[in-house]
Amino acid sequence: MTNKYTYFVANWKMFGDLRTLNSLDKVIKFSKTNKKNKFRIIYCPPSTLIRPLSKRLKKTKIEVGAQNCHHSYDFGANTGQVNSRMLKSVGAKYVILGHSENRQLGEDDKLINLKIKSALKAGLKIIFCIGETLREKRNKKTNQVLAKQIKNGLSSINNKSNIVIAYEPVWSIGSGLIPKSEDLKKSISFIKSKFGKKSLKILYGGSVNGNNVDKLKIITGIDGFLVGGASQDSKKFIDIIKKTIN
Ligand code: 13P
Repeated sequence: MTNKYTYFVANWKMFGDLRTLNSLDKVIKFSKTNKKNKFRIIYCPPSTLIRPLSKRLKKTKIEVGAQNCHHSYDFGANTGQVNSRMLKSVGAKYVILGHSENRQLGEDDKLINLKIKSALKAGLKIIFCIGETLREKRNKKTNQVLAKQIKNGLSSINNKSNIVIAYEPVWSIGSGLIPKSEDLKKSISFIKSKFGKKSLKILYGGSVNGNNVDKLKIITGIDGFLVGGASQDSKKFIDIIKKTIN
């Protein structure tokens, strides 16, 4: 861990309803008893829960984010879509963009770039996901893929101070597998080299849990974690945080 704050971002994906929010009482209590610690907890629930969750977290330091947004900053005839301004208006401070589960549904770098621009314009901070597939890894294309995703995804965005990178190897998501420490170190330092700016924050995501976080947290350049499955269980999420900060 290198930077001032360590980030713990919970990506709930398409899980959770109003009742689920009760389970967060444990995390709220935990964050209140650890006021001095320099970590940030950000919950990214489904859009339907952003408003109730941000109300519930009002008197806490826990922040709320969204999991995606439409690329148009303007309101319009886009059935089923939600844009960055709408998310901001219900309490989101962050938005996850470029997640591989959405790339797999057809989102390309160009569309992700438009989404990032629209979200920045709305005043949201971006958690920008990048990562290689297993095939790309086997073909030794990891750096090439990361470089392309960064270049195209962040094309013509000069001020990157509100962008956090989340390195999530696609093959690691939900598989229980994490990269070898050597490989992870190389990818993180490669990503850093693309920015040449020390304050860039990089999160790691992909099967983070209480059993592997000790291995992950010692990798130079990692500033926190983007947690999927384990973040739905407050105990498991707190365990990850405790093991990282202690
Ligand atoms: P898992 O932690 O379930 O592997 O998911 C990671 C992820 O996709 C977070 O965005």
